[in-house]
Amino acid sequence: MKLMNKTALITGGAQGIGLSIAETFCREGAVVYIGDMNEEQGMKTAGELTAQGYKVHFLLLNVSDEASWKNGIARIQKESGGLDILVNNAGINIRKNIEEMSAEELDKMYSVNIKGPFLGTKYVIPLFKAGNGGSIINMSSVCGLIGHKFTPEAYTTTKGAVTLLTKSVASRYGQFNIRCNSIHPSTADTPLVQEMLKDPERKKERLGEVPLGRMAGLNDIAEAALYLASDEAGFINGIALPVDGGVTAC
Ligand SMILES: NC(=O)c1ccc[n+]([C@@H]2O[C@H](COP(=O)([O-])OP(=O)(O)OC[C@H]3O[C@@H](n4cnc5c(N)ncnc54)[C@H](O)[C@@H]3O)[C@@H](O)[C@H]2O)c1
Repeated sequence: MKLMNKTALITGGAQGIGLSIAETFCREGAVVYIGDMNEEQGMKTAGELTAQGYKVHFLLLNVSDEASWKNGIARIQKESGGLDILVNNAGINIRKNIEEMSAEELDKMYSVNIKGPFLGTKYVIPLFKAGNGGSIINMSSVCGLIGHKFTPEAYTTTKGAVTLLTKSVASRYGQFNIRCNSIHPSTADTPLVQEMLKDPERKKERLGEVPLGRMAGLNDIAEAALYLASDEAGFINGIALPVDGGVTAC
């Protein structure tokens, strides 16, 4: 097992990509904290994984809120004595283009998609420094690498910020054996995109841009996260890893 004796916190782990990462990390022996603001779904998910014999805890966490991070990290430190892996996965997308999006909506997207990973990184670094280092994995998107014409500008802006937050943390904190990498999925079928994919035209657009001709599987993304979390990626720091069937190669 690749994550034996490791403790991981996955934000937005109650459903979708975060849940798939939680399942994969559990399978590989990690103690997993599912940090999410959706208490009902998070408790359900944690309960189901616990019933399968895994070591899983639900942590009520609003990634935009500094006090929530302080409390959450203090709880993990108390219960588990430290942390080895943080996956900054929670994210939202308000699907309006730049002409229609209000400043308030823009602030909301920034506060979850940028402030969330920023605060998470800030509060885990002291734990990682006190331990043996650690791995931070930031969930960006193909939209953090290209100006994706089907996607709102605000979302692309937030995911681009995550790409460079990753590289700047990697360059400053590598000296403490803290690795920081980002993952860039193309469209994956989760609650985040299900409404949009109900429109056959938009589904066709999304499939048409992928050289491999299919949506990203949740397991494709989770396996990439597993690699970056594991000791096998011990010399991988500051990369932006597309999991996109070739979208960003075109
Ligand atoms: N699904 C895709 O096609 C796709 C593609 C590229 C990147 N991504 C990124 O992957 C990540 C996960 O996306 P998903 O598709 O699984 O989304 P999702 O909507 O299915 O799940 C997101 C989870 O984040 C939680 N969350 C939202 N705001 C939060 C907050 N403030 N604090 C704590 N938790 C919060 C939600 O409760 C939910 O459980 C996001 O960062 C998203 O931008 C998704």
